[in-house]
Amino acid sequence: METGSAPQSELHEKLAAILDICQKMNSERDLGALLDLIAREATNLLGCDRASIFLLDAERHELWSKVALGSDEILRFDASRGIVGTAAMTGKTVNVRDAYSDPRFYTAIDGQTGYRTRNVLAVAMRNQRGETIGAFETLNKHTGAFSSRDEEWLLALASHAAIAIETAQLIGELRRSQDELAQQNAHLWREVENKYSAHGIIGTGQKIQQIVRLVERIRDSLVNVLITGESGTGKEMAAKAIHYTSPRARRPFVALNCAALPETLVESELFGIEKGVATGVNQRVGQFQKADGGTLFLDEIGDLSLSAQAKILRVLQERVLERVGGRNPIRVDVRLLAATNKDLEAEIAKGAFREDLYYRIKVIHIHMPPLREIREEIPLLANHFLKEYCRETGRPGLEFAPGVMRRLVAAPWPGNVRQLRNEVMRLAACAPGNSIAEEDLMEGLPAAAPKSEPKRAAAGKALSLKQAIEELERRMIGEALAETRQNQQQAARRLGLSRQGLINKMKRYAMAE
Ligand SMILES: Nc1ncnc2c1ncn2[C@@H]1O[C@H](COP(=O)(O)OP(=O)(O)OP(=O)(O)O)[C@@H](O)[C@H]1O
Ligand SMILES: [Mg+2]
Repeated sequence: METGSAPQSELHEKLAAILDICQKMNSERDLGALLDLIAREATNLLGCDRASIFLLDAERHELWSKVALGSDEILRFDASRGIVGTAAMTGKTVNVRDAYSDPRFYTAIDGQTGYRTRNVLAVAMRNQRGETIGAFETLNKHTGAFSSRDEEWLLALASHAAIAIETAQLIGELRRSQDELAQQNAHLWREVENKYSAHGIIGTGQKIQQIVRLVERIRDSLVNVLITGESGTGKEMAAKAIHYTSPRARRPFVALNCAALPETLVESELFGIEKGVATGVNQRVGQFQKADGGTLFLDEIGDLSLSAQAKILRVLQERVLERVGGRNPIRVDVRLLAATNKDLEAEIAKGAFREDLYYRIKVIHIHMPPLREIREEIPLLANHFLKEYCRETGRPGLEFAPGVMRRLVAAPWPGNVRQLRNEVMRLAACAPGNSIAEEDLMEGLPAAAPKSEPKRAAAGKALSLKQAIEELERRMIGEALAETRQNQQQAARRLGLSRQGLINKMKRYAMAE
């Protein structure tokens, strides 16, 4: 400490200056700009030529600093070197009156910066936890050398600077990871949008093109849509295409399979449940609320009970729902898409489906045709699935051998596009080389479709009774399997067969799956 204390006026002046610097530091969030600001303010505060902040790179045991104010050039050296290294490593203030006569002075820095150092004052910079984050150095006092009062001012400034620097570093890291996440997110959205854009629906024929055009036409409206079609015809795919091309694309798409819900759980699953309704029951958010702002896709809506239908109708009409055990209605904004493979009009006639709900959900109706009605699309679809396989497995160049496509087009496909997709994936996975040969089809491909309609066949004289019965059996099995979504147990029941009986017949007719 220098003899005598600082005159009151100087003390006030310096304290006011430090406060002012602190304010400026706290409003600067960019690390580069902050380091420049601190260095500039330090030269004014201490009446010296230069000031540099050296930050500690603990992993590499190095100190680094910008070469000069405003420059992006970085100086790096071993953290124990030089006067600044001594201050950082020992935590002690180092005040050197004649740099070139001090053995700790690291002349290479002057060499690199082209600056001639006369005297140096360096202090360690510590964060609030007392850890060293670097050192603060001032060079060449305008008149004379640095005093012990200068040491105090620099220490005071360094302790505030350390906190501001750490905050700026943290904010920088957060910004970087936020940018990274935003980039990843944008990339994922592009993927999802590509995958489910209306054009993700493959098909050039009239039936599929009509669907694509309809999806495009309703892209800006939020009408409810009913999608019908057999199992595996692309109902869910169409629902996603509608959602992801709509203004709600970046809000949730929530799919719920109503057929998989036991009657006792329907209400709590759809609308949620209030905590404490029964012992040990926690609050649960229902699917309607999860889809708030987005789209709720009710798959197999024809399987909902009448009481659940009534509740859904109420949400659609009043746009509010009540949780099980809840007292206050909750406002929701949900676009409803529904799908079924049942004939809802027949269900209405039986009294199993509410007519008013039917008209609410069927503002637009999309019917997905079974694959046997759009055989012309099979080559395009099969090639699309093969390409998808190649892309996903990183095995390019797989192709269908001639003749394979003819067989694929002729097959009965009771499981529709899903079955075709599975078949192509299986063939691709089993193909020994780059070509999928006709022999590979033998094992798994369903038997070829009858060349003529059974009605005509039965009437035709060319077929024996045995052949006609076989054709009829084959067709009924195919239909029963399609209607039960390939559930052999249920299909067998419908046909009045045992499961084993059905399997035997499927084997006889080479209808694997
Ligand atoms: N026209 C199409 N273009 C491209 N892929 C299709 C097409 N139709 C169906 N698919 C594909 O077929 C598979 C089955 O479709 P999806 O699951 O949407 O059928 P689904 O009608 O909902 O069946 P389920 O009634 O069994 O639930 C999916 O992989 C889907 O991408
Ligand atoms: Mg589905």
